[in-house]
Amino acid sequence: MSNRSATAVAHPNIALIKYWGNRDNEWNIPSSGSLSMTLGEVFTTTKITLDEERDRDFLSINGLIASEMAQQRLSAFMDGVRKLSGRRGYCVVESQNNFPQGVGIASSASAFAALALAASALFELPLDVIAVSRLARLGSGSACRSILGGFVEWLAGEDHLSSYAIQIAPPDHWDLVDCIAVVSREHKGVVSKEGHRLASTSPLQSCRIATANERLEVCRQAIQKRDFDALTRVVELDSNLMHAVMMTSTPMLFYWQPATLNILLEVPRKRLEGLPLCYTIDAGPNVHILTLKDHASDVRAWLKEIPGVQEVLFAPMGGDAKLVKVE
Ligand code: PMV
Repeated sequence: MSNRSATAVAHPNIALIKYWGNRDNEWNIPSSGSLSMTLGEVFTTTKITLDEERDRDFLSINGLIASEMAQQRLSAFMDGVRKLSGRRGYCVVESQNNFPQGVGIASSASAFAALALAASALFELPLDVIAVSRLARLGSGSACRSILGGFVEWLAGEDHLSSYAIQIAPPDHWDLVDCIAVVSREHKGVVSKEGHRLASTSPLQSCRIATANERLEVCRQAIQKRDFDALTRVVELDSNLMHAVMMTSTPMLFYWQPATLNILLEVPRKRLEGLPLCYTIDAGPNVHILTLKDHASDVRAWLKEIPGVQEVLFAPMGGDAKLVKVE
């Protein structure tokens, strides 16, 4: 199999109902289910090549040698692939993002989704969606949702086999757009892997987890009925709950910047003018504003006027991760 390679493409996703905290940190088995929309036009392309000359795996991102932390994360993931497949061989992984880094688009989700698909092809692991989703989860929890397009739910499960993502509605079901207001490009201080470990130190986490299934159901219904008001209420509540957990963890996590708050305070005012708007924030200061496609350019113009907003990116609904080439 020497010098064989496989290439795959995957999109990032934005969680509508968040994943924050694991019941099993080693296997990324989450404390609750989560639900996301896959983002189109932005994607990661990953090529993995077996290289018998090497004595460890090697990762480059956008043509540059990745950090030692990223190299170790890749090695740990590839050790899992070798163990599951019963095959040996170190690899060169070349990953390219067509979107800028540090703008609040989780590149780890699209990166591990593309890698899981390409590595499955190369190491002859099962290529069905559920198997690839489980494998992607081992790299980064939220990556299991990026295997599929449209609206995707991660079934929390209780072990490796039962924890994976399914599509609940295809991309053309509802024309939502994510307008990402970039307020900072600085790398987040605490990576999500560490954040998941801290979640249980918050006295609010048990309440958040105990009520997650209710929010999942409300969110599923809102999507099925294309009810933007209902979606807004549950998505904003869920984002606030996750940030409340972050802010009350020990040590505490605080990701917002003054400009984050400028946007949050403007959202209800703008909504009163009749613009359909819904905010959600991941583990960083940048704000994702969801809207309907027809209103996206109005939303962008409005966001650009808010003090501290450096840039506004657009992402429509995205599709499934795809295997592009095996050679
Ligand atoms: O997949 P991770 O470990 O990067 O965690 C993702 C955490 C959030 O983006 C904050 C929420 C989510 O569900 O995507």
